[in-house]
Amino acid sequence: MRRILLKNAKEGMVLARDIYSEDGKVLIASGQKLTNSVIKRLKEFGVYDIYIVDDNTEIYIEDVITKEIKEEAFEIVNGVFSSKYINTQEITPEIKELVSKIISSLLSQKEVILNLCDIRTVGNYTLFHSLNTTVFSILIGIKLGYDLDKLMVLGMGTLLHDIGKIKIPRNILSKKGPLQEKEYEIIKMHTIVGYDILSSEYKFEQNVAEIALFHHERLDGSGYPFGKTRDEIPQMAKIVAVADVFDALVSDREFRKRLKPHMAIEYLLNSCSTHFDSYIVSKFVTFISLFQIGTPVVLNTQEKGIVVHNNPKFPSRPIVRIFYDSEGKKLAFRKDIDLALNFHYYIVDVLDDLEI
Ligand SMILES: [Fe+2]
Repeated sequence: MRRILLKNAKEGMVLARDIYSEDGKVLIASGQKLTNSVIKRLKEFGVYDIYIVDDNTEIYIEDVITKEIKEEAFEIVNGVFSSKYINTQEITPEIKELVSKIISSLLSQKEVILNLCDIRTVGNYTLFHSLNTTVFSILIGIKLGYDLDKLMVLGMGTLLHDIGKIKIPRNILSKKGPLQEKEYEIIKMHTIVGYDILSSEYKFEQNVAEIALFHHERLDGSGYPFGKTRDEIPQMAKIVAVADVFDALVSDREFRKRLKPHMAIEYLLNSCSTHFDSYIVSKFVTFISLFQIGTPVVLNTQEKGIVVHNNPKFPSRPIVRIFYDSEGKKLAFRKDIDLALNFHYYIVDVLDDLEI
């Protein structure tokens, strides 16, 4: 399996990962042979790159949560964000059950290294964002030694951290150009509105609602809605801040292209102590794969290859399968370099595509 740009996709290639539609349903399933009409359809949906089956890289990425849990999460998040359950608590037990399933499945895996390789169409940001941030937060919570009760609070608060957005006018939320001061003030209100919805309407505990309230606060007081600083911000809100910003940076949005994971991590590390809690970020980087499996990379020797395995102890030092030597000549035989064992090699660039 390897990642390629959709514009380089050819008829006959086989999809290696499902592609999700706007409402979280599988639009085109893995295993599907590409035809020109499928490729055209994907282009229309704003898909930029895809994973294809490749005999040279016989790798497969295992999902940290099952397809069934994913679908259940999308259904619940879709319902909640379409205001279907407003003024009713009927969804609360389902949310609890979902979060408990996500926690058990994450706890059951020994060494999680997240490969963010879900291919999503541009329109379904909220669905994936809610689920991804929840997975990130729970994994951070596990690393911090949280017990089950705390993980439940953290998971539920993260899944619904942006629920306040349902009461923010759509034209402001999805505005492409820069926001006016007044519009930004309205967007900031999603924290307070979210707190109200979670505490008064869904009757969640105070500490779940506080995650929605404080997730945009920053350590140096530059956040909103109150400009709280360091110890004034609950730890769970600090966790969600990291998860929320990271996922936003690595996602394609209507108004900008995504960052590659290693650059998003760089951003978080650079903003430690001003915006983010450095201890939390240090836990986060232990399970995020900086160079996703299937990604084409360039080494310092100018050799080019594909990441085929992540080393959990060294996230920045995966195993790379080399296909081109330092002069750009294609190798006749495959050669794997484990960067965790060969410290004179390192990755200098991430490519969008590599013909092999
Ligand atoms: Fe938010």
